[in-house]
Amino acid sequence: MEHDEGSSNKSGNRPFIDVLQANLSRRDLIKGGLATAATSFLAANTASASAYKYKYRKYNLINFTPVAIEDGSGPWPSISPDYQWDVIIPWGEPIKPSGPAYSYPPNSADQAEQIGIGHDGMHYFPIKSHRKRRCGWDNDRDWNDYKDWHGNMHKHRYGRGNQNGLLCINHEFGRNSVVLDKGVSSNGDENQPESLEEVRTSQHAHGVSVVELKERFGKWKTVNSKYARRIHVNSPVEFSGPVANSELLKTLENNQPLGTVNNCANGYTPWGTYLTCEENFNGYFGARGDWTATEEQERYGFSSNGFGYGWHKFDPRFDLSNSNYANEENRFGWIVEIDPMSPNKKPVKRTALGRFKHEGIALTIGQGGRVVGYMGDDERFDYIYKFVSSYNWRRIRRRGLSPFDFGKLFVAKFNDNGTGEWLELTIKNPDLAARFNDQAEVLTYARIAADILGATPMDRPEWTTVAPNGTVYCTLTNNSRRTEADAANPLAPNADGHIIRFKDSYKHVGRKFKWEIYIIAEDTHGTEDTFSDPDGLMADPDGRLFIQTDGGQKDGLNNQMLVSNTKTGDLRRLFTGVTSDEITGIAMTPDRRTMFINTQHPGNGNPALTNFPAPTDGKTRPRDATFVITRKNGGVIGS
Ligand code: FEO
Ligand code: CA
Ligand code: CA
Ligand code: CA
Repeated sequence: MEHDEGSSNKSGNRPFIDVLQANLSRRDLIKGGLATAATSFLAANTASASAYKYKYRKYNLINFTPVAIEDGSGPWPSISPDYQWDVIIPWGEPIKPSGPAYSYPPNSADQAEQIGIGHDGMHYFPIKSHRKRRCGWDNDRDWNDYKDWHGNMHKHRYGRGNQNGLLCINHEFGRNSVVLDKGVSSNGDENQPESLEEVRTSQHAHGVSVVELKERFGKWKTVNSKYARRIHVNSPVEFSGPVANSELLKTLENNQPLGTVNNCANGYTPWGTYLTCEENFNGYFGARGDWTATEEQERYGFSSNGFGYGWHKFDPRFDLSNSNYANEENRFGWIVEIDPMSPNKKPVKRTALGRFKHEGIALTIGQGGRVVGYMGDDERFDYIYKFVSSYNWRRIRRRGLSPFDFGKLFVAKFNDNGTGEWLELTIKNPDLAARFNDQAEVLTYARIAADILGATPMDRPEWTTVAPNGTVYCTLTNNSRRTEADAANPLAPNADGHIIRFKDSYKHVGRKFKWEIYIIAEDTHGTEDTFSDPDGLMADPDGRLFIQTDGGQKDGLNNQMLVSNTKTGDLRRLFTGVTSDEITGIAMTPDRRTMFINTQHPGNGNPALTNFPAPTDGKTRPRDATFVITRKNGGVIGS
C-alpha cells in the first residue's frame, strides 16, 4: 500500500557521524558498478560460507528476453516473450466454485465467502505430494540447506504438489469508493459508509483467503475444498506469547478478540503454517466523540478520521472515543499465524514478534535450529527488527508449544562503517525499564522501545527475504521526507528507494552484522532496466532476487517485477502490470515452474483507466487479481 502518512517517529534518532562522507562513499560504491558492489560483498561473505553453491546453474541465471520499456504501459499486463500469464481469483470470486458468484457491488454475506480485495502477500502450500504429507517451503531435515532443498524439489517436480495446493493470500485494503461503489466526495475523500451493513461489507473484503487450487492441462482453478476459508475483520482470533494475558489487550466490554486487518506481506514457517502481517491498522480506527491521542496512540498514527473508512461510525470496536472498547486498538499490529491445513483452528496473534506496522516476515533457521524472522516496519523513519527463538524449533514444537512464544526481539542499528548491531527489546534493559512496566508493554509499544534504544530510522522498510547463503535483503521503498542522509539511507530525499543487504554473525542468531547497499533505484534510471519504489522481494535458491515495485515508475512504465542475479548484479524486467496498480505478493510451486504474483488496486479502481481482468469497455470496475506465470519451455521461473 502506497500510503502517504507523516512520520510518527519523533525520537530524533538521526544518525551518525560525517553523514556527507558516508553518503559519498556509498554512492561511489554503487557508481563503481552494481556488479562490483555485488561481488565485493559476496566475496567478503562467502569466503567462509562454502555452502553457497549453485549446483546446476552458475552465473548465467537469467536468460529470458525482457519486457521493453515501450511495452510496459497501459491497461493490460506485459510479460517476457519467453513467458506466459493467466489470471485467477479476482476480488469477489467465490473461494470455492459452490460459493456465491461475483456481483458488484457485493453485500456483506457474499463477501465473507468470496475472495477479498487488495491482493498482497501469499504462499503456496503443496498438498497430496508423493510424500503424502504436508510440506511448507521444504519439509526436510535442514530447512536452509540448499542441496537438501534442491534434492526435494527435484523429487517434487513429479509430485502432485506442483499441481495441487493451498494458496493463502492477504487482502490488504480496499477503498469505500471501490468496495462499496461509493465514489469520492468533492474534497477528494472517500465517501463514508451509511450503514453497519456497508461497514461489514468493507470489513469482509479485508483479511486473508485460503483457497485450494488445482492445475489441469495448464489451467489453474479453485476447487470445492474443505480447506477453503475466509478470515476477515470479524473472524475470532486468539493471542499467544508474552502479551496474551496483559491488561493492554482487555476491553471494558470484555469482547472476544476478533479479526485481522491491512494484511500486507507474509511469511511461512518450516512447520507448514502461514504468517499474515498487519500493517496500516491505525487507519481503520476513528473517533465519534471527544478523544485525544495518548503518546502511544500518536506513535502508531491514530487519528480521529483514520484513513476515511468510517468503520467507527457504525462499529464501536473501531471508535477510539468509546471507553467500552478502550485497548481494542492494541489488538492490531501483530503477526498472525494461520494453519491452512486446519480450517477450524483460529488464527493466533504472536505477540513476541512485537507490535508495529508489520510489512512482512522472512523466516530462516539459525544456529542451533532456532527460528529467526526478519521484519520491516513500513513507515518513514521506522525500523528493521528480528526475532530469534530461544530454542530449536523442533524441540519446542515436540512439546506442543510454539517457537514464536519463546524468544527475543531485536531492532537494527546500522553503523556508518558497514557494521551493525541488533539491540534487544527487553524490560531487563534499564532504559526500557524506566519507561515500561513489563515485557508486555515493551512488545505492545515496540516502536517506542526501539526509539529509546537508538535504532536506525530507515526509508520505509518493506519486504525482507533470506538468500540461501544467509544474506538478508530488505527493500527501503522511498522517503520523501528525509533531509539528512546516512550511510544506510544515503539519499535525502530518497524519491525512489533502495535495497539493503546484511549478514548476521553466528548464523542469524548473533548480535552483530555486516551490511551493504545492494542497489539504489535511482541508479537504474535512464537504463533499460529502470525501476523505482522496490517493495515485494524474494530470493530464490539459485541466487536470483525477484524485485516487485509499488510507486511511480519512470518512462511511463507500469509497476513491474524484475529479476536480479545477485552474483553479477544483472537486472531484467520479467513482467509489467496494468496502469495505476502495484505488483505485490510472490509464491511458487515447489518445483519453481509456476509462480503466483498479484496486481493490487489496478487502475486505482477507476474503470476509465483499466477494466482488467475484464476486456476493455470503459465501464467495468477493475479487480485485484492473481497472475499465474509459467515459462513457455517449462523452465524455472526467472531463468
Ligand atoms: Fe503494505 Fe508497505 O506495503
Ligand atoms: Ca499495497
Ligand atoms: Ca509499498
Ligand atoms: Ca508493500
